[in-house]
Amino acid sequence: MLNDQLVSYSGVQPSGNLTIGNYLGAIKNFSLYSEKYKTFYCVVDEHAITVRQVPAELRRRTYETLALYIACGLDPEKNTLYVQSHVHEHAELAWILNCFTMFGELSRMTQFKDKSSKHSDNINAGLFTYPALMAADILLYQTDVVPVGIDQKQHVELCRDIAERFNQIHPDTFTVPDPIINKSGMKIMSLADPTKKMSKSDENTNAVVYILDDKDTIIRKFKRAVTDSDTCVSFAEGKDGINNLMTIYSCFTGKTMEEIEKEFEGHGYGDFKLAVGEACAAALAPVQQKYKEILADKSYLEAQMKKGAEEASYYARRTLGKVQKKLGFVKL
Ligand code: TRP
Repeated sequence: MLNDQLVSYSGVQPSGNLTIGNYLGAIKNFSLYSEKYKTFYCVVDEHAITVRQVPAELRRRTYETLALYIACGLDPEKNTLYVQSHVHEHAELAWILNCFTMFGELSRMTQFKDKSSKHSDNINAGLFTYPALMAADILLYQTDVVPVGIDQKQHVELCRDIAERFNQIHPDTFTVPDPIINKSGMKIMSLADPTKKMSKSDENTNAVVYILDDKDTIIRKFKRAVTDSDTCVSFAEGKDGINNLMTIYSCFTGKTMEEIEKEFEGHGYGDFKLAVGEACAAALAPVQQKYKEILADKSYLEAQMKKGAEEASYYARRTLGKVQKKLGFVKL
C-alpha cells in the first residue's frame, strides 16, 4: 500500500512485437486496474540486457513499447509509466536483495534454465540473479498485486519469499505481494498449432498475429489458420482451431459463442475466418493509428518517461532509504 491505496505493479520487456494474445489476455484490461489500484508499469530495459542486445534496437524498442502501451489505452495521467533504468533505486535494491536470495532458489527458476540453454554461450550472473532485480522492482513500491502471465508466477513467488525473509530479520519493511495470473479463459492459441499458446517468439510468423500487423497481413494469417475437417462453426471439444478463432472473434466483437454459431449457420470456415480477420483488423486499427501518432512525437514520449520516472522515484527513494537504514548503512 502507498498512501492508503492498494498498489498494482507490472514490468514489460522492451519489445514492440506484442501479439493479440498479449492484447486480449492482458493489456486490454490493464486500464481497468487503475480504478482499483495505484498502478505502475515499467519498461524493464535492465532486465533486457541479461541477453545480448543491439543498443540502437534496445533504445528504439523502449520508445516503441511505451508508445504501444499508451496506444492500447494506458493513460499516463492515471498510471505511472516509466523506464526501469531511469530510477536508479531498482539496481541498488536489487544488489541488497541479492544478499537475501539463495543460490539454490535461483537455480530452481525454470526461466533461468530455459534461457541458459538457449544462450549457452552467455550464461552470465545477471541472467541468474534476474529474479532479484524483479523482486526489487516489485518491492520498491510496496506492491500488493502483480498481474503477470503464468510463466512469471514462479518469479513472483520467489519475490514473496525474499520479502518474507527480509521482513523476518527486519520487521515491517516490505508489503508481501500476490501474483494475479491472467485468466486462462482468455488464452489465445497459435494459429498454426491451436494446442499451443500464441507466443511472440514463435519462429513461424503465420502462427502469430501482432498488434501492429496491417490489415492484409492479419486477414492472410487468419485465412491460413489451422482448423479441422468439420464444416460447422461451433464451439466443441476437439475443435481447437475453431474454438480459438471463436474466442478471438468473441473478444473483439463482444459476441457470445451462441451468437457466433448463429451468425455463421450455413457458412463455411472460409467465411468465418475472413470475418475474424476483419473484426481483428477493425479493432486494432484505432490502436495502430494512435501508436503511429505517439511514436512520431518523441518529445511527448520523453516527457511521459520523465514524468513517470519522477513519480516512481519518489516512492522508490522512500523504500530504499528505509531498507538502507534497517541494514545499518550510514546516512549522511
Ligand atoms: N520478468 C517479466 C517478464 O519477463 C518482466 C518483469 C520485470 C516484471 N519486472 C517485473 C513483471 C515486475 C512483473 C513485475 O515478463
